[in-house]
Amino acid sequence: MKSSRSSCPKVALILWVVLAVVCARSEKSSSAMTVVESSDNPSEDAESRVEDEADEEDLEVFYPTDKWQTLRPGQAVPAGSHVRLNLQTGQREVKKGDEEGFKHWKDGKRQGMVNMQAPSFTAEELKEALKKFKEGAEDSTDKDKGTERDEEAVRAQFRPLEELKKDMAELDMLMETDIQVIRRLLSTYNSTNSTVEDKVAALLDLEYLVHQVDNAQNLVQMGGLRLVIDALNSTDVRLQESSAFVLGSAVSSNPTVQVEAVEGGALQKLLTLLATPRPLGVKKKVLFALASLLRHFPFAQSRFVNRGGVQVLAELFQVTGAEALRLRIITVLYDLIVEKELISQAGLDYIPDSSHQEKLRQYAQVSLSPLLAEQGWCSLVPELLDSEEHDWREKALRTLLAMMPHCRAQYQQNPSLSRTLSDLQRQYQELALSEQELGEEDGYFGEILALLDSAVSKMQQA
Ligand SMILES: *[C@@H]1O[C@H](CO)[C@@H](O)[C@H](O)[C@H]1NC(C)=O
Ligand SMILES: *[C@@H]1O[C@H](CO)[C@@H](O)[C@H](O)[C@H]1NC(C)=O
Ligand SMILES: *[C@@H]1O[C@H](CO)[C@@H](O)[C@H](O)[C@H]1NC(C)=O
Repeated sequence: MKSSRSSCPKVALILWVVLAVVCARSEKSSSAMTVVESSDNPSEDAESRVEDEADEEDLEVFYPTDKWQTLRPGQAVPAGSHVRLNLQTGQREVKKGDEEGFKHWKDGKRQGMVNMQAPSFTAEELKEALKKFKEGAEDSTDKDKGTERDEEAVRAQFRPLEELKKDMAELDMLMETDIQVIRRLLSTYNSTNSTVEDKVAALLDLEYLVHQVDNAQNLVQMGGLRLVIDALNSTDVRLQESSAFVLGSAVSSNPTVQVEAVEGGALQKLLTLLATPRPLGVKKKVLFALASLLRHFPFAQSRFVNRGGVQVLAELFQVTGAEALRLRIITVLYDLIVEKELISQAGLDYIPDSSHQEKLRQYAQVSLSPLLAEQGWCSLVPELLDSEEHDWREKALRTLLAMMPHCRAQYQQNPSLSRTLSDLQRQYQELALSEQELGEEDGYFGEILALLDSAVSKMQQA
């Protein structure tokens, strides 16, 4: 903005504000501003740029509505709107957040909210204002000694610069970092004024944020994990369900938060939720949270075992009407068995350092397998083979094999298991064959057949 013409700084400043507002949501704000500064004829260049940017903005920013809509790759995800993964299509879907009169936006790492009830401008309005300003500015260049009355007339034609600046300031002020968003959500959740719906919405937004390791740790720092754990035994099942969801995501692959959660009493609450009658939706999320809490955390695992967790799961497995949970239950146990096995095997491959020794020591305290045999799992796991679903059968076979060392005798004395296995062998031999005829050598059915063969042959060992 080196021009000596008196009108130019004003024009450029207005342009800057215009561009900044328009570009706040697009990714090219810096290059657009460079044009203003370097061009000989800033107003024209920048104006055409404004049009480009406005179009681009229309393409890139996704404004969610009240309905779930599919998000295309590359579209900006407005913070605060609800995002979910559609498991059927694998696509992300977005819905508007609940704050009325606020528009969320996100630009790279920056994100924020614009208060739509405060005076603000569309790209169209801003362009209009710009044109009017230009006309006015040319006028005043001609009559540099123009009267105050002229200036007023010009001012009356467009929104004053001060107002634009104020709008900008507001935009800056409302730009929220993740930490601020978390703080806002927690305060919504914690407010006595919030309805259950408000709280559930806040928890679901939190769930989205705490997938990031740092965000989950900030949640702990802000006392939010405490609120989430307390919500597990809230009197409202909707809060139980969503808080279990947040907890599960926050502790996933996040050792610091896992430790905090166990120390905060989360494990006991999860077990209580599993052991008492609750809607299926709650149990599903609780199983998810439990699995995430136990994974790679032998201290929590041995606590889980010592507090009767294996028995709680066995009882839940047998509840009529809760069959839908069986695969998830088995998965929790299978993961625990395999994890311990892998750790002990790794010890044979290399010279163990002290931390590995400590790990082994901790895992040694988790005596899961004998307990599984003791508490009836040797006969419960084969029940899963009756399912019609291939993936259920697969998981059942893998778990059955993992438990073989402790269950062999019981498997051998289970006549219906032998029958089921040979029926399935015949069935999958055919399926594997047709798979091969279609040119698939290492197909899924072949894989299941291999598991079946292995189970049959291992059962025959003395
Ligand atoms: C609850 O709402 C009332 C009235 O709307 C307000 O005065 C009060 O400060 C609010 N309390 C909290 C904790 O937000
Ligand atoms: C939630 O509210 C309680 C009581 O109003 C307060 O003591 C606590 O610090 C709040 N927690 C958070 C994380 O805001
Ligand atoms: C939840 O459990 C804690 C202790 O574990 C207890 O102090 C609190 O009253 C319980 N809340 C509800 C709503 O039952």
